[in-house]
This record gives sequence, C-alpha cells and structure tokens, in this order.
Amino acid sequence: MSKILVTSALPYVNGVKHLGNLVGSLLPADVHTRFRRQIGDDVLFICATDEHGTPAELGAIEAGQDVRAFCDAQHAVQADIYRQFALSFDHFGRTSAPHNHALTQHFYRRLDEAGLIEARTTNQVFSPADRRFLPDRYVLGTCPHCGDPSARGDQCDRCGTLLDPPELIEPRSALSGDRALEIRESRHLFLRQSQLVDRIGAWIDGRSGWPAFVASTAKGWLNADLRDRCVTRDLAWGITVPREGFDGKVFYVWFDAPIGYIAATQEWADAAPGRDWRQWWWQADDVSYIQFLGKDNIPFHTVSFPATLLGSGEPWKTADVIKGFHWLNYEGGKFSTSRKRGIFTDAALEELPADLWRWWLIANAPESADTDFSVARFVADVNKDLADIFGNLANRIISFAHRAFDGCIPEGGAPGDAERKLALDLEQRIAALHVHHTSLEFRAASAATRAIWDIANAYLQHTAPWTAIKSDPDRAAVVTRVGLNLVALCATLAWSILPSLSERVLGAFGRNDAVPRWPNGPLLPLLDDGVGTPVASFGPLVEKISPEKADHLTSRFGA
Ligand code: MF3
Ligand code: ZN
Repeated sequence: MSKILVTSALPYVNGVKHLGNLVGSLLPADVHTRFRRQIGDDVLFICATDEHGTPAELGAIEAGQDVRAFCDAQHAVQADIYRQFALSFDHFGRTSAPHNHALTQHFYRRLDEAGLIEARTTNQVFSPADRRFLPDRYVLGTCPHCGDPSARGDQCDRCGTLLDPPELIEPRSALSGDRALEIRESRHLFLRQSQLVDRIGAWIDGRSGWPAFVASTAKGWLNADLRDRCVTRDLAWGITVPREGFDGKVFYVWFDAPIGYIAATQEWADAAPGRDWRQWWWQADDVSYIQFLGKDNIPFHTVSFPATLLGSGEPWKTADVIKGFHWLNYEGGKFSTSRKRGIFTDAALEELPADLWRWWLIANAPESADTDFSVARFVADVNKDLADIFGNLANRIISFAHRAFDGCIPEGGAPGDAERKLALDLEQRIAALHVHHTSLEFRAASAATRAIWDIANAYLQHTAPWTAIKSDPDRAAVVTRVGLNLVALCATLAWSILPSLSERVLGAFGRNDAVPRWPNGPLLPLLDDGVGTPVASFGPLVEKISPEKADHLTSRFGA
C-alpha cells in the first residue's frame, strides 16, 4: 500500500470557475485519487479556496460586500459545485483559515533566520483620495499601445500588452477615480531566490515523471536568472507580516497560497481524531506527492514554493510529480472569466449530469497541447461513448436477463473458448489501463476504458444470447452470466471517471461499496460469478443529448 498525497491548484475564491479550470487541475486530481483508492492505496486529496490578494478584494468591492463575508459566501458556492461534480476531496479548506496564517508566518520567520529575507525600498502608486497604495490592477488608464481607455496597470486586456502603472496615460484609481496619483516609497520584503538557484536546480534534477513541458518550463525559469521575489504587498486583506515597520502590509497571495496545501491538511487533521498531518508533510519520505495544476501555475510550483520549503531548512515534503495541463479553449477562442465567455461549472450542472462533463473533459484533457471544446464535438462524443456504447451495453444485457432469467444472474453451462479468450484479452487491457492511470495519462486511460466497453459489446454481439436462448439455453445462460458480470466490471473500471453512472450500475447488482475495488487476478472466475444475484433493471443509463438540446447549449454558451 503506497501513501499518495494529491493536491489540486487552489481555485481563486472569487467567481465560479469554468470548465477549463476544472479540467486543468481539480478533475484529473479527483480521477487519480479515486483510482488510487480503488487499488487500495492510502491517498489524501487536499484542496482549498485561494482567498487572499487583489482578486478577492476586487471581487468583494464589485459585490459590495465586506471581504470576509464575500469569501465565506464564495467558498460555500464553490464547495457546493465541486460536491455536485463528485470531487472527492478529503478536505476542501480555505487559505484564510487560522492555520494558514500561523504557518505562513512560520515560514517567513524560518526564511528570515536563514538570511533569505531582505527588506528593500520600492516605489508604489499611492492615491491620496483613497488614502492607500494601489496594486497594479487597481490603476486604470489609457493604453499607450492601442489607446484603450480602460487598460489596467498590469495589462491591457484589449491588446494584451503587459504594462507597468507609470506607462498608462492619464492614470486613475479603479476604486475612487482619483487622478491625483503619486509615486511613494514603500518598504517591502524580498525572498532571495537568487541564493537558492543551485538547491532548486538540484531538486528539479532529482525528480522524474514530470510532463516534458513542465520540466522545460521549470528549467527555463531557473536559468533565466531567478530574481528575488517581493513577497509582501500594501494591502489590508491577507496575512499580516510579523515584523516591525510592516503594519498595514500583508504577504503576497502567491507566498501564502501554496502553504495553504499544508495548512488545509492541518485543518483536515483537526477535523477528526487519529489524523496526523505530519505523516503527510513532515519527514514524509514514504509519501509520493503529486500536484495537479494549469500551465500558468508552473513557475510558482516548480520554483517559488520549493524555494519556500527548501529555504526553511526544515524537512518538508516537496512534490514528487508535477502534472501540468495546457489550456482548454472554447469554440476556437479562450475561456474568459472576466468576459464570461465559455461554460462555467454552475451552468454546466444546470444543463446536464456531472458525469457527462467529467467524461468529455478527461477524455480530451489538454495534456500535451491546448484542446478545443466545442458543443458539437461534446454532444457527438457523449452520445456515442456514454449512450451508445456504455449505456447500451448495460441496458441490453440487463433487460435481456429480465426477459429470459427473471432478472437474476443465471446458473447453467460452463465458460468456453469465447469466454477464455475474452478474459485473456481483458486481463491485458486492464493491466494497460492500470498503467495509464498510474502514469497520469488521462486521455489514454479514457480511451482504454472505452475500448474495454467495445470489447464487451463485441462479445455480446458475437455470442448473441437472445438468439442462443432458443436453441441452447445453457449457452445463453453462460453468456448472460458473463455479460452481466462484464457490465459490473466495466462500471468498476470507469468509476474514477464516471462515479455516478458507475455507482448506478453497480447499485443494480446490490453492490454499494463506497469504493469499488479494482479487479485483481484472473478474470474468468470473476466473470463467471454471482449466480442467483438479482440485477435491478433501470431506464436508459444515459439519455442521449437531443438535437434540440444541442441547439439550446449552442445558443446558451455559443459565440
Ligand atoms: N489560485 C491560483 C490560480 O487559480 C492557484 C493557486 S495554487 C497554490 O491560478 F499553489 F497557490 F495554491
Ligand atoms: Zn492596449
């Protein structure tokens, strides 16, 4: 039994996430966690909302709410959506929780003691009317490149140019509109990452199993002179800096957010007796730690967070594998939260059951390149894979068992050549599926799962119990018995991707285990098993998405 720690990048608390966010970290982390539980590993799956920094503060201002109340509400909204998507976190915490405050300040102190923190004077934009420093994205003005009048201090959304606030023409405060902005000096703390280049480089070299683009992105950051990083901000919302002269400042959100992985594990441990967070994070050499994240997060996880952990000089667990994802695009363009373009997780659930989205997203996960979501492809794939192949397989043999064998797994006959060949073929395919899952190859795992459904359908097509029943009832009984067990096997193998559909199928067999165990050993006994077990019939497992529904999806999410 291996100990596996799984974390998904922590979604920003503000705003409901879109399908691209889901497939880029949360969903594959869940599929992997479920698979690991199936094979009997001891796995801990941790996530949280990322609640500090300007995104949360701006979100609260827009919503006209106090930041804390805003975060409380938004955390609850996201937790509920992820529950509906069947994301099986052991704990879904919050980076604003007391544990993260204490732990972030602890890391700061350790880094300071190690001589890795340096105070420097910086120039920041100050608004006299707002009586505060303005973070880059709180400064608006005219873009010097394209003339857009609502460019932000960090970037012009219209032409995409990265900016510094002083470049804006006629800059103003996003909060009050104040135009009398000044540049004032402000003291800030820098983490001296430049001192850690060799240690981080050795750390990266010591890892394996990372997707090639993750390793090369990490190396790129490391080699392009790793700059010291400002880890504090002039903001009110966040984790306070325990140092003289730093009143009214907080740690940078990207400093405290990844520490939230550990703090959320501490929250998990506090929630029930007998749990020990140290077993996962402190001198935890027996733990394999896998991080799931989108490609924009790679530098923070391959360089910045390791700098915090290694720089502390303490025996913290660091990631073994960093599974990064490319982007999911939407109908040829980008998903965009600010422009509300694409499919958001709440809207997706309003339209169709979670498993349909889970299936398509995992089967098309942007593992090696960006992938395009299109309503047409989604509808065609889901109808074919889930309704025609998987759903049909279950419905066909279960309804036949009801017509011919009183809805029970029938006795009679003995497996023959066709069954022995089937079992051998499936044993190899299941072994390959196991490898795809352990190697974090999600598209390959989905394709291998679907191929097993195809094999099952082909077996029934070929042995045709509905014909055999007239001439050779014993033969029909064997085939029905094997066919029914095959359906349960297919559901078991698909459970990590399709938990609800699989549980419905397994429930029809009276199997209601919280985690259906991965099949072990030779298959023939398993496929020949369960004589007399009643199998409940159910309506279509998956309703096909109608052309009208497809039109509706296109018009709701279109453009
Ligand atoms: N909130 C960040 C994002 O959505 C991810 C934070 S991951 C963590 O891009 F490491 F900081 F936790
Ligand atoms: Zn511009």
